[in-house]
Order: sequence, then C-alpha cells, then structure tokens
Amino acid sequence: MQATLKKKILLGVTGGIAAYKSAELLRLLVRAGAEVRVVMTAAACEFVQPLTFHALSGNRVYTDIFDADAESAMDHIELARWADFMVIAPASADFIAKLNQGYGDNILLTLCLASKQPVAIAPAMNQQMYANAATQDNLASLADRGILIWGPDSGEQACGDVGLGRMLEAETLLQELEMHFRPGKLASKRVLITAGPTLEAIDPVRYISNHSSGKMGYALARAAQSAGAEVTLVSGPVNLAIPAGTKRISVNSALEMRDAVMERVEETDIFIACAAVSDYRVEQQAVQKIKKTDDQLQLLLIRNPDIVSEVTAFGNPPFCIGFAAETENLEAHAKAKLKRKNLDMIAANLVGNSDTGFGHDSNELHLFWADGQLHLKLASKQLIAQQLIDQMANLYLAQN
Ligand code: PMT
Repeated sequence: MQATLKKKILLGVTGGIAAYKSAELLRLLVRAGAEVRVVMTAAACEFVQPLTFHALSGNRVYTDIFDADAESAMDHIELARWADFMVIAPASADFIAKLNQGYGDNILLTLCLASKQPVAIAPAMNQQMYANAATQDNLASLADRGILIWGPDSGEQACGDVGLGRMLEAETLLQELEMHFRPGKLASKRVLITAGPTLEAIDPVRYISNHSSGKMGYALARAAQSAGAEVTLVSGPVNLAIPAGTKRISVNSALEMRDAVMERVEETDIFIACAAVSDYRVEQQAVQKIKKTDDQLQLLLIRNPDIVSEVTAFGNPPFCIGFAAETENLEAHAKAKLKRKNLDMIAANLVGNSDTGFGHDSNELHLFWADGQLHLKLASKQLIAQQLIDQMANLYLAQN
C-alpha cells in the first residue's frame, strides 16, 4: 500500500463491540503512512486490551486523564495540539451524547474539547439506540457544529437486530480520511443547491406544501463545502441551521425559488436541484382568510415553472444534477427525467417508505448519467451526500 496519509491521527476508541474493528483501522492507518496515537475510554478497554493498540501503533495508549506517566510524556492539551485530525471509532451513543453536551469527564472528551482540529465520529450502536430521537438530535447538533459523521452502515448487528447502526468498515473509514485530506475536488467551484420544500400560499393562513425536511439538500451543501466548493443554498422553509461556511438564501414559494436560482445561474459551475418544488400553485391567492361557508371548496391550481429545466435550457448552463422522488419504477422514471430535463446526472430515491426520502436521516440513491450508474446503499444522508458529491465531481471534472 502507498503511503497516502502522512498525517498525525488521533484515534479515539469508545466502548462498543465494534472496538475490534478499530484495531484493523489502526493497522490500515499505519500502513497508509499515518502516525497514530490511540486514546481509549474505560468502556473501550472492556472490549479490547490497550496492549493491542499499543502493539499496532508502536505508541503508548492513553486511557486515563490522571495518568502521571502519560501526562509527563505528552499531556492531553499537547496531544490535542499534536493531532492533525481526530477520528473516534466506534463512537457510542453515550459518547455522542456527552460530546454534544461538552462533557470532559474522560480523556477522550477532554481532547475533543481541547482540539481545534477536525473531528470525525463513526457511530456504532444498536439500531434502536441509533434511531432514538435523543441520539438523532445529538448527531444533528454535532453535524451542525462541523463534526464529521461517518456512517453508520446498515446490516446485521452483534445483538441480532438488523438496521442502521453498524460501524463503517475500517477500509471505508480509511477512504473517508484519505478523501478528507485530498485537496478538495471542487476547490473554487461555485455550487448552487436547492433544498427543502416550497410553500404555495392559498390565503394568508393556509398553504400547499410537502414533507421535505431539507436534510438531504443541507447534507449536500456540507459535503460540497468540504470538497472545497463555494456553496450557495437556496432553501425553502426548513428547521435546520445554516451549514458552516455556506451562504443561504431563504425562499418560500416555487416562484421565489426560481427567481433566486435564475439570478445566480450565470455565476454557477454546478447546480444541484434537491428541493421538492411544488408542481402547482393556486391561480389566485385569496387576500383574506377563506371562510368555510360551503361544504366544498374548489381551488384552481396552475403549474409552477420547472426550475431545473429552466436552468438546463439556459444559454451556457452549469453542470446540472436533478433528483427524482419516486414511489415506483424508480429506474425508468429517473432515466426519463434525466432525458426530459436535460440533466448531466440524476439521483433517484424512493419516497414514502420507512428509511429513505422525505424527512428521514438516512437515504439510498441510484445515480444515473448518460453512460453510467451507481448505487449508493442505505446510509446516513451525510454519508450519501459525500458519496454523491464525490461521484458528481468525477463526472464534472472529466468534462471540464
Ligand atoms: O428534504 P428531505 O426530507 O431530506 O428529503 C429529500 C428529498 C426526498 C426531497 C430529495 O432527496 C429529493 O428527492 N428531492 C427532489 C424531490 C422532487 O421534487 O422530485 P421530482 O421527481 O418531483 O422532481 C424532479 C427534479 O425536478 C428535482 O430535481 C426537482 O428539484 C426538480 N423540479 C421539480 C419541479 C419543479 N417545479 N422544479 C424543479 O426544479
């Protein structure tokens, strides 16, 4: 293996059955040329002996904040400064909760608090614990603060359950790290992304909309930004924080979204249409609240402009990626949209089920372009977004 990762990596290990995979990650990191220091929580030491990590890294393993020997060799503040990057794998639900709250009651948490360097966590836990609202809130808040969330993967778990919660394989985590240190594929490219729903007013108090939460589009914004792009998000009304380093233009209706996009299209290299734009709006918005006097109410709906089609029809269009939200015949419908809307790539997802599409934190995408396709299997929207941006950048760079 080539020495591709000449970096100082601090590998944090927390308590979980997946801790054994971290020994493999450590081996791969060392083979890739990284200098690695390992920090383990007390719970991690119940699963794997520190000696294993000591032998594989060639360095002492840090387990205790009050360890006089360790502190005299390199105290925990120095250790935080030493690292180019911290990766915590596995990251247990308990650790994730404490990290989110800013606790410092073990050496690994203290290091996270003391570090200015990027931190990635690889969640690993039972699928129900992962799905728990508290865990999801903690992960969302950490992601908003710029912590990279790698995984989890879906599949059979040590406890016998099946679902999202398995730690990513060591090879995948190594790839994530290598990708992180590669000069951003999209350095200095201007990426415009639409996200979230649109809201079509019926009268001053009622509207037509859909279930888009904006999570997929915001994850794409973060991933494009990490790949070095200058990102502008044109966002429908959602309840999400602005991804660090990106610019957000907030809109309500499809017409507002169209105007915000078309104003910027000339200065855009790549356009990603992830928003769930309402296909119709009411022809005549009522100025006053409509009174419920009749048993029936008829609204006349008219078509909204197709924003992504307007962009691809533009004189010198940017590289364009559309989404297809389907409930059946995913491939056929997506390929038809790819052609009809003149897109460079389309990302198709199934909506209306329990793991993918609207509102969920996970997604599964089928990417199609003129002469190829790629399946991004079920994973967190953030990981899926990173994979989509990576593939999209390969296609874009091959053509430009
Ligand atoms: O926001 P989340 O809760 O995370 O959910 C993510 C998502 C399901 C919304 C997202 O992954 C997704 O599929 N977005 C596209 C939804 C959609 O409107 O699909 P569509 O198949 O109806 O539209 C096809 C494409 O045309 C899309 O790129 C859409 O943005 C674009 N379009 C559609 C209508 C319109 N008037 N203007 C458009 O630009």
